[in-house]
Amino acid sequence: MRPGNDKAIEEMFNSISSKYDFLNDIFSFGLHRFWKRTLLDILKPSFGERWIDLCCGTGDMSILLARYMKSSENIIGIDSASKALLVAKARSKQNFSSIEWIKGDALKTSLTSHQFDGLLMAYGLRNLSSPYSGLREAFRILKPGGRAGILDFRSFERSSIQGLFQKIYLSLYVVPISSLFGLGKEYSYITKSLVNFPSGRKQVHLAYSAGFKKAKYQTLAMGQMGILLLEA
Ligand SMILES: C[S@@+](CC[C@H](N)C(=O)[O-])C[C@H]1O[C@@H](n2cnc3c(N)ncnc32)[C@H](O)[C@@H]1O
Repeated sequence: MRPGNDKAIEEMFNSISSKYDFLNDIFSFGLHRFWKRTLLDILKPSFGERWIDLCCGTGDMSILLARYMKSSENIIGIDSASKALLVAKARSKQNFSSIEWIKGDALKTSLTSHQFDGLLMAYGLRNLSSPYSGLREAFRILKPGGRAGILDFRSFERSSIQGLFQKIYLSLYVVPISSLFGLGKEYSYITKSLVNFPSGRKQVHLAYSAGFKKAKYQTLAMGQMGILLLEA
């Protein structure tokens, strides 16, 4: 599968939704929660604010956000994969039932402009057919002054030890293990999705072109992950 095909991406995420959280824990050694928590610590969402989680998948980031804000009111999670949303709904039913899960396109949400205080996107930007359009849509739905944090794999502009480490990690760890679960093809997509994914410097540039007033990029996980921090 090639990046940029929205329908194929939706089908792929539907097909991996039941094993997604389990594999995420294996592949990141559970650290993805720490990285997501770091994002929240930087953005400091507060009680009463209205937040959206774009490309929410099985709901990990939205639920973490609800825990952080000590309330699941005023949180929307949006994703194009309906099976991932079913997992999110089941996970949040007991303690975070006010989170609203919407099936939709992050590039074109149909939500009213300037309504959110904050926006999150974890491991979503890389999967969008146009990261720039995703950032434009994020800017449109945020209130002026609203803040956003976008977490994803880091993309390397030129060859480096860190880039080499990423290739080895993906091809010798992620793909072989996912193959054991019959999902090797699906997980080999991560490498493909990184080929044209903009580097941190380029993401900052795209964010300014999309209208954001402030944009900065910082790395974590020894340079393997990146967070794009934005102010509308
Ligand atoms: C790697 S998963 C990340 C899920 C979740 N945010 C997390 O961190 O666990 C990427 C998600 O982006 C969603 N996605 C990809 N393209 C999308 C689009 N155009 N609109 C909405 N969701 C999209 C996929 O369905 C998938 O659930």
